[in-house]
Amino acid sequence: MKRLLRVLGGILGVLVVAWLGVCAYFAVTHPRVSFTAEELARPAAPLPKGFLWGTATAAHQIEGGNTNDWTRFEAQPGAIERGETSAVSADHWNRMAEDVALMKTIRANAYRFSIEWSRLEPQEGAWNEEAWARYGDLVRQLREAGITPAVTLLHFTLPLWMADRGGVAAPDFPDRFARFAAEAGRRLGPGVDLWVTLNEPNVQMYMGYVLGAWPPQRKSPPEAVRAFAGLLRGHAAAAAALRAADPGARVGVANNVMLLEPRSRLMLGDWLGSLFLDQFWNWAFADAIRDGRARIRLPGATLDERIDGLVGSVDFFGLNYYFRYFVRLAPGTPEMFVMEPGPGLRSELGGTSPVGDSPPEALFLLMREAWKRYRLPIAITEGGIADDQGTMRGPLIRGQVEAIQRARAEGVAVEGYFHWTLVDNFEWEKGFRPRFGLHRLDRQTLARTPAGGADVFEALAPPR
Ligand code: FCB
Repeated sequence: MKRLLRVLGGILGVLVVAWLGVCAYFAVTHPRVSFTAEELARPAAPLPKGFLWGTATAAHQIEGGNTNDWTRFEAQPGAIERGETSAVSADHWNRMAEDVALMKTIRANAYRFSIEWSRLEPQEGAWNEEAWARYGDLVRQLREAGITPAVTLLHFTLPLWMADRGGVAAPDFPDRFARFAAEAGRRLGPGVDLWVTLNEPNVQMYMGYVLGAWPPQRKSPPEAVRAFAGLLRGHAAAAAALRAADPGARVGVANNVMLLEPRSRLMLGDWLGSLFLDQFWNWAFADAIRDGRARIRLPGATLDERIDGLVGSVDFFGLNYYFRYFVRLAPGTPEMFVMEPGPGLRSELGGTSPVGDSPPEALFLLMREAWKRYRLPIAITEGGIADDQGTMRGPLIRGQVEAIQRARAEGVAVEGYFHWTLVDNFEWEKGFRPRFGLHRLDRQTLARTPAGGADVFEALAPPR
């Protein structure tokens, strides 16, 4: 009996040591970083000349007047908070010159925007010349103002004909998307240096096919996996088409990444949960591009497949950053873990998705990780905060610049920052309540006025 107890005690001891050893290993390989209050308060070192400093927008969120899978979704009762719709949005379609002037006043030298596929190809194979001309004119206006255009081809919304054929999960999505990319490259390429094929493919897949909260409102892991593969194939085909049409094109994807940390650094389950989610959410898409092989696992569906044309298809890593979460293993819950927001500036995004926060240390760690994995130049393709009072945006921008400076000092090639967003807009299913704009939108008059943080953005602009 005694011997048995000794053996059991020995085994337990070995397990405890192994447990602590593994936790210690993870803790050392995933160090915490903190910026002091003094560091965040001191004037940031100026960003270098040539650093891309701009705002980011998406067609459907600011233009108004679109007809696509989202406008169809918006017509469903209860789809959008308070029954709001994108019908007018910020009326950017009719106010492009005014909005370029806003960019000038805040000393932006770059602008990331999306071109709306549903406007440009309202029926399959039929181009809308007037719409192409208007985007061409926007590119010209930006160039004249010394503002570098960065164009996104797909920022969530699809033409109805593409949605009806099965959207991004349809077998012919890559070909149709590549045809659109070729047309964009041919028509706009001479004025556009940077291209983003896809905005946040992980969000599009998860919201549309796992949660079913966004178009096409599916809750099906096998379809989610098909959508993920379709987005990868679409990206590869579009990147090739862009480069063929516009040999100088620099191509990337805007990846939504969040810092996911274990709730307790002593709990092995919390580590395993956070590391699994980190791989699934943050890096699976970009790793597939690096390796030429798509791999994800969802409950009830897995994908492990070689995809042609992925390797070498990006010239930079686009990083959209908003959230940091603590992950806790929670056996018995459907997902097996829960995510909790950490301390920091608290975004008002709220609503149906969890409230997040955006400490600059998290952005720093994510840039460092992306650099370690891909050794590609990084553009922060989005960063921002829903901030109705306008008190958090300035400190957020300051902190994000501090993170960029630190990463650059460590040799990470960060080349640009696009603040989300230029002017308050239609924030998907949350409607107009979250205000992300450096300019406040009066929804009645559509007038734009500088919001809290616009002064900080202007002051931190790199020299011309
Ligand atoms: C990002 C989206 C963008 C906007 C911001 C707040 O995930 O790319 O369209 O909704 O969040």
